Amino acid sequence: MFDLTGKVALVTGAAQGMGRAMALALAEAGADTLLVDRNEEGLRATGASIEGWGRRAVVAPCDVSDPARIRELFKRLDAEFDRIDFLGNVAGDGILASPEEVSLEDVERCWRNLVLGRFCMCQEAGRRMLAAGRGSIVNIGSLASITALGRGHIAYSMAMGGVAQMTRELSTEWAGRGVRVNAILPAQVVNPGLEKRMSENPSLRDKYISGIPAGRLGQPDDIRGLAVFLASDASSWITGTLIPMDGGSLAANAGATMGRKK
Ligand SMILES: NC(=O)c1ccc[n+]([C@@H]2O[C@H](COP(=O)([O-])OP(=O)(O)OC[C@H]3O[C@@H](n4cnc5c(N)ncnc54)[C@H](O)[C@@H]3O)[C@@H](O)[C@H]2O)c1
Repeated sequence: MFDLTGKVALVTGAAQGMGRAMALALAEAGADTLLVDRNEEGLRATGASIEGWGRRAVVAPCDVSDPARIRELFKRLDAEFDRIDFLGNVAGDGILASPEEVSLEDVERCWRNLVLGRFCMCQEAGRRMLAAGRGSIVNIGSLASITALGRGHIAYSMAMGGVAQMTRELSTEWAGRGVRVNAILPAQVVNPGLEKRMSENPSLRDKYISGIPAGRLGQPDDIRGLAVFLASDASSWITGTLIPMDGGSLAANAGATMGRKK
Protein backbone atom coordinates (compact mmCIF):
# COMPACT_ATOMS: atom_id res chain seq x y z
CA MET A 1 0.00 0.00 0.00
CA PHE A 2 2.90 2.35 0.73
CA ASP A 3 5.13 1.09 -2.08
CA LEU A 4 6.40 3.87 -4.39
CA THR A 5 8.38 1.66 -6.78
CA GLY A 6 8.32 3.05 -10.32
CA LYS A 7 7.08 6.47 -9.21
CA VAL A 8 8.92 9.75 -9.76
CA ALA A 9 8.99 12.35 -6.99
CA LEU A 10 10.17 15.95 -7.32
CA VAL A 11 11.12 17.39 -3.92
CA THR A 12 12.22 20.99 -3.33
CA GLY A 13 14.32 22.00 -0.34
CA ALA A 14 16.00 18.61 -0.65
CA ALA A 15 19.45 19.84 0.48
CA GLN A 16 18.55 19.79 4.18
CA GLY A 17 15.83 19.68 6.79
CA MET A 18 12.33 18.48 5.98
CA GLY A 19 12.91 18.45 2.21
CA ARG A 20 15.88 16.14 2.62
CA ALA A 21 13.99 13.91 5.07
CA MET A 22 11.03 13.76 2.66
CA ALA A 23 13.21 12.87 -0.35
CA LEU A 24 15.05 10.14 1.56
CA ALA A 25 11.78 8.64 2.87
CA LEU A 26 10.21 8.58 -0.61
CA ALA A 27 13.32 7.00 -2.11
CA GLU A 28 13.42 4.41 0.66
CA ALA A 29 9.80 3.55 -0.22
CA GLY A 30 10.87 2.99 -3.84
CA ALA A 31 10.60 6.33 -5.70
CA ASP A 32 13.12 7.82 -8.10
CA THR A 33 13.70 11.48 -7.31
CA LEU A 34 14.42 14.86 -8.86
CA LEU A 35 16.09 16.81 -6.06
CA VAL A 36 15.73 20.61 -6.10
CA ASP A 37 17.31 23.32 -3.96
CA ARG A 38 19.53 26.37 -4.42
CA ASN A 39 22.21 24.60 -2.32
CA GLU A 40 23.91 22.32 -4.85
CA GLU A 41 26.38 20.79 -2.39
CA GLY A 42 23.58 19.75 -0.03
CA LEU A 43 21.64 18.30 -2.96
CA ARG A 44 24.61 16.19 -3.98
CA ALA A 45 24.85 14.73 -0.47
CA THR A 46 21.14 13.81 -0.48
CA GLY A 47 21.50 12.35 -3.98
CA ALA A 48 24.51 10.25 -2.97
CA SER A 49 22.52 8.68 -0.10
CA ILE A 50 19.66 7.80 -2.44
CA GLU A 51 21.88 6.36 -5.16
CA GLY A 52 23.59 4.27 -2.48
CA TRP A 53 20.26 2.42 -2.18
CA GLY A 54 20.13 1.77 -5.93
CA ARG A 55 17.46 4.39 -6.68
CA ARG A 56 17.81 7.15 -9.26
CA ALA A 57 18.40 10.67 -7.91
CA VAL A 58 18.85 13.59 -10.32
CA VAL A 59 20.26 16.75 -8.76
CA ALA A 60 18.75 19.97 -10.15
CA PRO A 61 19.84 23.25 -8.52
CA CYS A 62 17.13 25.89 -8.88
CA ASP A 63 15.85 29.03 -7.16
CA VAL A 64 12.17 28.24 -6.67
CA SER A 65 11.22 31.90 -6.31
CA ASP A 66 11.93 32.37 -10.06
CA PRO A 67 9.21 31.03 -12.40
CA ALA A 68 11.55 31.09 -15.42
CA ARG A 69 13.94 28.75 -13.59
CA ILE A 70 11.03 26.51 -12.57
CA ARG A 71 9.90 26.14 -16.17
CA GLU A 72 13.47 25.16 -17.15
CA LEU A 73 13.44 22.67 -14.27
CA PHE A 74 10.35 20.95 -15.65
CA LYS A 75 11.96 20.67 -19.09
CA ARG A 76 14.77 18.84 -17.32
CA LEU A 77 12.20 16.60 -15.55
CA ASP A 78 10.61 15.75 -18.93
CA ALA A 79 14.01 14.92 -20.42
CA GLU A 80 15.20 12.82 -17.47
CA PHE A 81 12.00 11.00 -16.41
CA ASP A 82 9.11 11.99 -18.70
CA ARG A 83 6.68 11.57 -15.78
CA ILE A 84 5.89 12.97 -12.34
CA ASP A 85 3.84 11.20 -9.67
CA PHE A 86 4.58 13.35 -6.65
CA LEU A 87 5.56 16.97 -5.99
CA GLY A 88 6.77 18.02 -2.54
CA ASN A 89 6.89 21.82 -2.29
CA VAL A 90 9.15 22.18 0.73
CA ALA A 91 11.82 24.82 -0.06
CA GLY A 92 11.42 28.30 1.26
CA ASP A 93 12.23 30.60 4.09
CA GLY A 94 10.63 33.64 5.61
CA ILE A 95 11.82 36.94 7.01
CA LEU A 96 11.20 38.31 10.46
CA ALA A 97 10.22 41.96 10.90
CA SER A 98 7.43 43.76 12.69
CA PRO A 99 4.36 44.79 10.66
CA GLU A 100 5.15 48.48 11.18
CA GLU A 101 8.74 48.15 9.95
CA VAL A 102 8.83 45.39 7.33
CA SER A 103 9.71 46.67 3.85
CA LEU A 104 7.34 45.97 1.00
CA GLU A 105 10.32 44.50 -0.89
CA ASP A 106 10.70 41.88 1.85
CA VAL A 107 6.97 41.16 1.83
CA GLU A 108 7.18 40.61 -1.92
CA ARG A 109 10.35 38.48 -1.66
CA CYS A 110 8.63 36.24 0.89
CA TRP A 111 5.53 35.95 -1.29
CA ARG A 112 7.63 35.03 -4.35
CA ASN A 113 9.48 32.37 -2.41
CA LEU A 114 6.51 30.76 -0.68
CA VAL A 115 3.44 31.51 -2.81
CA LEU A 116 4.42 32.27 -6.42
CA GLY A 117 7.13 29.59 -6.41
CA ARG A 118 4.87 26.93 -4.88
CA PHE A 119 2.06 27.84 -7.27
CA CYS A 120 4.28 27.75 -10.36
CA MET A 121 5.57 24.32 -9.29
CA CYS A 122 1.97 23.12 -8.75
CA GLN A 123 0.94 24.46 -12.15
CA GLU A 124 3.80 22.77 -14.02
CA ALA A 125 3.43 19.49 -12.12
CA GLY A 126 -0.38 19.70 -12.23
CA ARG A 127 -0.49 20.05 -16.04
CA ARG A 128 1.56 16.86 -16.40
CA MET A 129 -0.37 14.99 -13.69
CA LEU A 130 -3.75 15.97 -15.16
CA ALA A 131 -2.62 14.71 -18.58
CA ALA A 132 -1.66 11.40 -16.95
CA GLY A 133 -4.82 11.30 -14.80
CA ARG A 134 -2.92 10.78 -11.55
CA GLY A 135 -0.62 12.51 -9.11
CA SER A 136 -0.16 13.79 -5.59
CA ILE A 137 1.11 17.19 -4.47
CA VAL A 138 2.11 18.19 -0.94
CA ASN A 139 2.65 21.84 -0.06
CA ILE A 140 4.46 22.60 3.15
CA GLY A 141 2.57 25.33 4.95
CA SER A 142 2.93 26.15 8.60
CA LEU A 143 0.77 26.59 11.67
CA ALA A 144 1.07 30.20 10.42
CA SER A 145 -1.15 29.12 7.48
CA ILE A 146 -4.13 29.14 9.84
CA THR A 147 -3.09 30.85 13.09
CA ALA A 148 -1.09 33.96 13.99
CA LEU A 149 2.41 33.57 15.45
CA GLY A 150 3.34 37.16 16.33
CA ARG A 151 7.09 37.75 16.88
CA GLY A 152 7.57 39.45 13.49
CA HIS A 153 6.04 36.71 11.31
CA ILE A 154 3.71 39.01 9.36
CA ALA A 155 5.25 38.52 5.87
CA TYR A 156 5.73 34.77 6.39
CA SER A 157 2.26 34.30 7.84
CA MET A 158 0.52 36.17 5.01
CA ALA A 159 2.36 33.98 2.51
CA MET A 160 1.64 30.75 4.38
CA GLY A 161 -2.05 31.70 4.52
CA GLY A 162 -1.87 31.81 0.73
CA VAL A 163 -0.39 28.30 0.68
CA ALA A 164 -3.45 26.99 2.58
CA GLN A 165 -5.89 28.50 0.10
CA MET A 166 -3.77 27.39 -2.86
CA THR A 167 -4.04 23.83 -1.55
CA ARG A 168 -7.81 23.98 -1.08
CA GLU A 169 -8.46 25.61 -4.47
CA LEU A 170 -6.22 23.20 -6.38
CA SER A 171 -7.66 20.11 -4.70
CA THR A 172 -11.16 21.34 -5.51
CA GLU A 173 -10.27 21.94 -9.15
CA TRP A 174 -8.22 18.80 -9.71
CA ALA A 175 -9.56 16.01 -7.45
CA GLY A 176 -12.08 14.86 -10.08
CA ARG A 177 -9.24 14.39 -12.57
CA GLY A 178 -7.03 12.22 -10.36
CA VAL A 179 -4.72 14.82 -8.85
CA ARG A 180 -4.65 15.22 -5.08
CA VAL A 181 -3.29 18.30 -3.30
CA ASN A 182 -2.68 18.37 0.45
CA ALA A 183 -0.68 20.51 2.86
CA ILE A 184 1.39 19.69 5.91
CA LEU A 185 1.46 22.41 8.56
CA PRO A 186 4.48 21.99 10.85
CA ALA A 187 4.98 23.68 14.20
CA GLN A 188 8.58 24.37 15.26
CA VAL A 189 10.91 21.86 13.61
CA VAL A 190 14.60 22.15 14.43
CA ASN A 191 16.62 23.73 11.60
CA PRO A 192 19.69 26.02 11.51
CA GLY A 193 17.60 29.23 11.50
CA LEU A 194 15.56 28.12 14.51
CA GLU A 195 18.69 26.96 16.36
CA LYS A 196 20.24 30.40 15.78
CA ARG A 197 17.17 32.21 17.11
CA MET A 198 17.03 29.94 20.16
CA SER A 199 20.73 30.46 20.92
CA GLU A 200 20.31 34.24 20.66
CA ASN A 201 17.28 34.12 22.96
CA PRO A 202 17.58 31.15 25.33
CA SER A 203 14.04 31.51 26.72
CA LEU A 204 12.62 30.84 23.26
CA ARG A 205 13.14 27.05 23.36
CA ASP A 206 11.07 26.79 26.57
CA LYS A 207 8.46 29.11 25.11
CA TYR A 208 8.09 26.95 22.01
CA ILE A 209 7.98 23.72 24.00
CA SER A 210 5.42 25.17 26.41
CA GLY A 211 3.01 25.38 23.45
CA ILE A 212 3.60 21.78 22.32
CA PRO A 213 1.71 19.17 24.36
CA ALA A 214 4.05 16.42 23.12
CA GLY A 215 6.80 18.21 25.07
CA ARG A 216 9.48 18.41 22.38
CA LEU A 217 10.36 20.33 19.23
CA GLY A 218 9.86 18.63 15.87
CA GLN A 219 12.71 16.98 13.99
CA PRO A 220 12.97 16.88 10.17
CA ASP A 221 12.41 13.11 10.26
CA ASP A 222 8.94 13.67 11.73
CA ILE A 223 7.80 14.33 8.15
CA ARG A 224 8.83 10.92 6.80
CA GLY A 225 5.64 8.97 7.53
CA LEU A 226 3.28 11.69 6.30
CA ALA A 227 5.32 12.14 3.11
CA VAL A 228 5.16 8.45 2.18
CA PHE A 229 1.49 8.22 3.16
CA LEU A 230 0.48 11.23 1.04
CA ALA A 231 2.59 10.12 -1.94
CA SER A 232 1.20 6.59 -1.91
CA ASP A 233 -2.10 4.96 -2.81
CA ALA A 234 -2.75 4.57 0.93
CA SER A 235 -4.10 8.13 0.83
CA SER A 236 -6.03 7.87 -2.45
CA TRP A 237 -9.20 9.52 -1.03
CA ILE A 238 -7.34 12.18 0.96
CA THR A 239 -7.19 15.56 -0.74
CA GLY A 240 -7.60 19.21 0.19
CA THR A 241 -6.48 18.57 3.76
CA LEU A 242 -4.25 20.75 5.92
CA ILE A 243 -2.53 18.30 8.26
CA PRO A 244 -0.88 19.77 11.36
CA MET A 245 2.46 18.16 12.20
CA ASP A 246 2.82 19.80 15.54
CA GLY A 247 2.90 17.56 18.61
CA GLY A 248 -0.64 18.66 19.44
CA SER A 249 0.08 22.40 19.36
CA LEU A 250 -2.93 23.46 17.31
CA ALA A 251 -5.41 21.41 19.31
CA ALA A 252 -4.44 23.14 22.56
CA ASN A 253 -5.65 26.70 22.95
CA ALA A 254 -3.28 29.33 24.27
CA GLY A 255 -4.67 29.13 27.78
CA ALA A 256 -4.49 25.34 28.01
CA THR A 257 -2.55 23.54 30.73
CA MET A 258 -0.68 20.58 29.32
CA GLY A 259 -0.25 17.26 31.10
CA ARG A 260 3.43 16.51 31.71
CA LYS A 261 5.24 13.33 32.69
CA LYS A 262 5.41 13.10 36.49
N1 LIG B 1 11.30 24.43 10.62
C1 LIG B 1 10.14 24.90 11.04
O1 LIG B 1 9.93 25.15 12.24
C2 LIG B 1 9.02 25.14 10.06
C3 LIG B 1 7.73 25.28 10.54
C4 LIG B 1 6.70 25.50 9.64
C5 LIG B 1 6.98 25.55 8.29
N2 LIG B 1 8.25 25.42 7.85
C6 LIG B 1 8.49 25.47 6.39
O2 LIG B 1 8.93 24.20 5.98
C7 LIG B 1 9.83 24.34 4.88
C8 LIG B 1 11.12 23.58 5.19
O3 LIG B 1 11.62 24.02 6.42
P1 LIG B 1 12.97 23.42 7.03
O4 LIG B 1 12.91 23.61 8.49
O5 LIG B 1 13.25 22.07 6.46
O6 LIG B 1 13.98 24.51 6.44
P2 LIG B 1 15.56 24.51 6.23
O7 LIG B 1 15.95 25.92 6.41
O8 LIG B 1 16.23 23.44 7.02
O9 LIG B 1 15.68 24.10 4.69
C9 LIG B 1 15.10 24.90 3.69
C10 LIG B 1 15.75 24.51 2.38
O10 LIG B 1 15.08 25.26 1.36
C11 LIG B 1 16.07 25.80 0.50
N3 LIG B 1 15.53 27.03 -0.10
C12 LIG B 1 15.04 28.11 0.53
N4 LIG B 1 14.61 29.02 -0.37
C13 LIG B 1 14.86 28.48 -1.60
C14 LIG B 1 14.66 28.92 -2.92
N5 LIG B 1 14.11 30.12 -3.18
N6 LIG B 1 15.02 28.11 -3.94
C15 LIG B 1 15.57 26.90 -3.70
N7 LIG B 1 15.79 26.42 -2.46
C16 LIG B 1 15.44 27.21 -1.43
C17 LIG B 1 17.28 26.07 1.37
O11 LIG B 1 18.48 26.12 0.63
C18 LIG B 1 17.24 24.88 2.32
O12 LIG B 1 17.96 23.77 1.83
C19 LIG B 1 10.02 25.83 4.67
O13 LIG B 1 9.16 26.25 3.65
C20 LIG B 1 9.59 26.43 5.99
O14 LIG B 1 9.09 27.73 5.86
C21 LIG B 1 9.28 25.20 8.70
